[in-house]
Amino acid sequence: MDTAPILTTPRLRLRRWLPADIPPFARMNQDPAVREFFPNLMTYDESAVSVRLIERHFDEYGYGLYAVEVGLTGEFVGFTGFSHPGFDAWFTPCVEIGWRLRKEAWGQGYASEAACAALAYGFGTLGLTKVLSWTAVLNTRSERVMQKIGMSRVGEFEHPGVAQGHVLRPHVLYEMVGEFRFPTRDPI
Ligand SMILES: CC(C)(COP(=O)(O)OP(=O)(O)OC[C@H]1O[C@@H](n2cnc3c(N)ncnc32)[C@H](O)[C@@H]1OP(=O)(O)O)[C@@H](O)C(=O)NCCC(=O)NCCS
Repeated sequence: MDTAPILTTPRLRLRRWLPADIPPFARMNQDPAVREFFPNLMTYDESAVSVRLIERHFDEYGYGLYAVEVGLTGEFVGFTGFSHPGFDAWFTPCVEIGWRLRKEAWGQGYASEAACAALAYGFGTLGLTKVLSWTAVLNTRSERVMQKIGMSRVGEFEHPGVAQGHVLRPHVLYEMVGEFRFPTRDPI
């Protein structure tokens, strides 16, 4: 397994996943704060399956949701990167950028730092021409990351994977098209 970082930032390394990432990833997915804007917590087995699916996506497409570790300590703190949505909407199929970090790692600009590096790599090396991102309207913290990394708000949509009437069904949709433009202010 190739564990060399695919991307490095001033503070972070983005890489493929290791078996050792599964326990901290599972703990993260059982944290109610991390899962506040998801319909459920995840069991250990669901997290392990999720890592397998992420790795299969890398094998198939050459990109995916990168495991993120802190450069100085090597500590796994979550993921940031690309995936393909598993639902149909007017903007699918598409490439989505997403992020999820352990709560202890929040509020330090890590998500924005990792996402900027991923976008620059996506539009540059990977040759992507459009990247979308979405989150529940209530998840203003995640929407703030989209704004900080220079994405543009497209509008709102009802997520077809969430039950009608559920508070998490309304979503905001953001995009970046053409090329990666560094944000006008430092996102970190
Ligand atoms: C969303 C998440 C990845 C952000 O990680 P992070 O490393 O803390 O993000 P950053 O520090 O780069 O930026 C967060 C921004 O949100 C702001 N913020 C924090 N709490 C906020 C809130 N309740 N409402 C709005 N903005 C908020 C921060 O102040 C910061 O903006 P600023 O730099 O302009 O002050 C992290 O909170 C997380 O993992 N959440 C749970 C999983 C999740 O919801 N993932 C997204 C699903 S679509």
